[in-house]
Amino acid sequence: MIKKAVLPVAGLGTRFLPASKATPKEMLPIIDKPLVQYAVEEAINAGINEIIFITSPEKNSIKKHFNKNEEIESKLIKSGKKDMVKKLNPEIFSDITFYYINQEMQNGLGDAVLHAESIIKNEDFAVLLPDDLFFSKRSCLSQLIDIYDNKKSSVIAVNKIDKENIHKYGVIKPGNISDKFINIQDIVEKPSFEDAPSDIAVCGRYVLTSSIFNHLKCTDFDKNGEIQLTDAIRSLIKEEEVLACLYEGEKFDCGSKEGFVHATIALALRDESISEDIKKIIKEII
Ligand code: UTP
Repeated sequence: MIKKAVLPVAGLGTRFLPASKATPKEMLPIIDKPLVQYAVEEAINAGINEIIFITSPEKNSIKKHFNKNEEIESKLIKSGKKDMVKKLNPEIFSDITFYYINQEMQNGLGDAVLHAESIIKNEDFAVLLPDDLFFSKRSCLSQLIDIYDNKKSSVIAVNKIDKENIHKYGVIKPGNISDKFINIQDIVEKPSFEDAPSDIAVCGRYVLTSSIFNHLKCTDFDKNGEIQLTDAIRSLIKEEEVLACLYEGEKFDCGSKEGFVHATIALALRDESISEDIKKIIKEII
């Protein structure tokens, strides 16, 4: 059973400067909820009960966000806004243990995941990158866990990407393809258009066996001085079956400005309390 999830949130968020200078990128809201909360809710709804944030001292507001705030709570109750209390401290958070581990240097996603070893130990676990936002009937992480429960192998979420954008992603070389999953033969981080082994790119949800930690420890820094999770998975594939799940649903890349704005518009148009006004505004602008 997958009960623990790692959320790496220590990145510099350079694409969102200056907004991300004092506010973590992961705390930027899509409408009224910070990005990181969408990922935490997805994890909890998929059965996770321990959330491990890999964070940095500058990102203390993430910890504050998930701690109870009794002062605001009592003010809301006094002013008759009980409904808002539920929004402030969603009930689903009550049985969850949150851990916060500092990544001293931003040495890449692989290094961030390795920081969770002291808590995960030899359990298999999930990784969610909060800047990828997913919406589907059955959540992206639940789709991965369905496959993991059956196969007990690592499973990575993937989706098809226009080849001209392939250089931005980890890309898999597919082996056998069944209607449920793809056997991964190889995986490369940010290949050029010419070298990309397919048009199937990794997106920010993973279920990994604990053996990934040994592979992360042996992974060298890349040319940008980062330890890439993709490189450790590439090494894992040589020893264990690693599967890909062709994710069914919507995905917004909120680590980029276009994706962030796209998600904001899409969610605003679905929010009954504001959608009519937003439609009018969009019509006016166009
Ligand atoms: P990104 O590749 O989006 O990097 O990381 P970033 O630094 O946050 O953003 P840019 O590229 O500078 O704009 C993907 C996820 O991995 C985390 C990030 O916080 C993000 O959730 N991460 C990345 C770490 O936790 N530590 C790192 O050293 C790098």
